[in-house]
Amino acid sequence: MSKMLEEIREQPEALARTLEGALPAVAELRRALEGRRPRLIVLAARGTSDNAALFGRYLLEITTGIPVSLAAPSVLTLYDAPLDLEGALVVGISQSGESTDTNFVVERARRRGALTVGITNSAESTLARLPDHVLLVRAGKEESVAATKTYTGQLLLLYLVAQTLGGAIRERDLRRVPEWAAAALKLEPEIRRRAERYRFIEETVVVGRALNYANAFEFALKLMETCQVVAERFSSADFLHGPIAMVGLSFPVFLFTPAGATWPSLKQILEKLHARGAETLTITDRGNPEARQLAGRAIVVPARLPELYTPVPYIIPAQLLAAILAEEKGLDPDRPRGLRKVTRTL
Ligand code: F6R
Repeated sequence: MSKMLEEIREQPEALARTLEGALPAVAELRRALEGRRPRLIVLAARGTSDNAALFGRYLLEITTGIPVSLAAPSVLTLYDAPLDLEGALVVGISQSGESTDTNFVVERARRRGALTVGITNSAESTLARLPDHVLLVRAGKEESVAATKTYTGQLLLLYLVAQTLGGAIRERDLRRVPEWAAAALKLEPEIRRRAERYRFIEETVVVGRALNYANAFEFALKLMETCQVVAERFSSADFLHGPIAMVGLSFPVFLFTPAGATWPSLKQILEKLHARGAETLTITDRGNPEARQLAGRAIVVPARLPELYTPVPYIIPAQLLAAILAEEKGLDPDRPRGLRKVTRTL
């Protein structure tokens, strides 16, 4: 069995540990933010961690009203631009804590007056030393090159960051996230049956919106690195502004379709895709029976999920599909072609 699959399965325990372990550091961060509401939040990360940042952007803007920017590291690493970060909260997110440019942004931001936070899975890393505050993902060592359990750990910690800034995130909901992750893992046998159908795909599109837009990026990244599938990702809104033109008969499209604010737009996309004869597979939950009826194929997380908490349980079937499809294709998901666990770029 691949490490990737093993690590996907560890997520309920990893999430519970991360939540429990982070509470003291979160209380400290909350105190530091008292009377110091940031005017802006900047999130700095690469790869999967950057996808977690994309989720953070929606979560923080929706729940706190503070504008969020995703750092463009080269503005600092290559141009050393005089960015004014006074009064900003800058959060670096990195599984390894050793992504050079993420750390560079955090270090510069601290010097330029920002309050800085690091989110990392490695307590010994550079990112655990650089910032004012550190929130640890406690997922245990991640050995597969493809990040999985650290992504969901990062999402969980971002809920806590939103909570420290006044976001309406209830602790009792957060405590259910590990249980919802466990419900999603029950889908593994079904995903194994479905994976065979996708053995020969070479290109696909993943669609998600708002809180699940990041999951579209993350699922696409997993398909690219572990399955060598060319995977484009779009919000349902952007997709209609042109890219849908590439979809014809039998073109595979994956969608994340929770109930709630994004459903009308996703429903419209599903209808348009079916009119073109596309092959759709949606990831949804028991709270959106309409998605199940309308979709060509649906993977239904066996729980009724509040929209705000869908991203963690929704990415798990996608991770499973990527890991299992890689095996179907005869690829080793733990060692994607030419990749290493830590990528250093400036
Ligand atoms: C994807 C993956 C990479 C890393 C990226 C950042 O599965 O593993 O995209 O997410 O290299 O690494 P960290 O999080 O260590 O900064």
